[in-house]
Amino acid sequence: MKKLFIIANWKSNKTINEAEEWLEEISNIKYQISHIEYKEIILCPSFTLLPNLKSYIVNHKLPFKLGAQNVSKFREGAYTGEVTAQMISGLVKYCIVGHSERRKYFNENDDDVIEKIKLLLEYKIMPILCISDLSQLDSYVNRGRQIIGRSEEILFVYEPPDAISGGGEYKPDSPEDSNLYAGKIKERIGEIKILYGGSVNSDNVASFFSQPNIEGALVGQASLDPREFVEIIKNA
Ligand code: PGA
Repeated sequence: MKKLFIIANWKSNKTINEAEEWLEEISNIKYQISHIEYKEIILCPSFTLLPNLKSYIVNHKLPFKLGAQNVSKFREGAYTGEVTAQMISGLVKYCIVGHSERRKYFNENDDDVIEKIKLLLEYKIMPILCISDLSQLDSYVNRGRQIIGRSEEILFVYEPPDAISGGGEYKPDSPEDSNLYAGKIKERIGEIKILYGGSVNSDNVASFFSQPNIEGALVGQASLDPREFVEIIKNA
């Protein structure tokens, strides 16, 4: 049985109260999911929620790991508003980097992403690196060969921007196409873990996970509803 990574990317959603309601709703998850030991379930809320979620997860012994959605490309210092890798290192095991929304709305570029990965690896946080297409992957490899070379310490996500739900027209990639694309990424980088992202829900998750090259999913919209998220994990 292959180990699956199921990541909830809450994006800019949920207040502290809403996050606690979500957790309460899902707190009996251990009894609902078979073979949960083969599922790494990672919650990526906003920074404001991380300490509360961490306490809740520990106190209720929930089978969740935490991830951040972003990190500063700088170390500590005079960078108003930035949250550093060192600051989150006691809170999270994972951190998303290179998401197409950060590139689109915050002008992040390949060099920024490489700097972030360097810092995350230094603080033993596993980067969840989103890749939109092969040319972007090639650019990362050219700019940060040694960093991308530490591929066993990175989770890769193939996430075509057009497949991401919300805002305009979107359409998930077919599981077969995603599998082919994930295979091409593996050909370039080696034996790595690749997840698929973009409009994953409880109806389509099984068709992605049955693909040989896909080892998990980055789930946005559908992770906001705890019942739907449980269904995704069940069907995985
Ligand atoms: P979506 O988002 O599942 O809402 O399409 C995925 C992501 O961008 O992480």
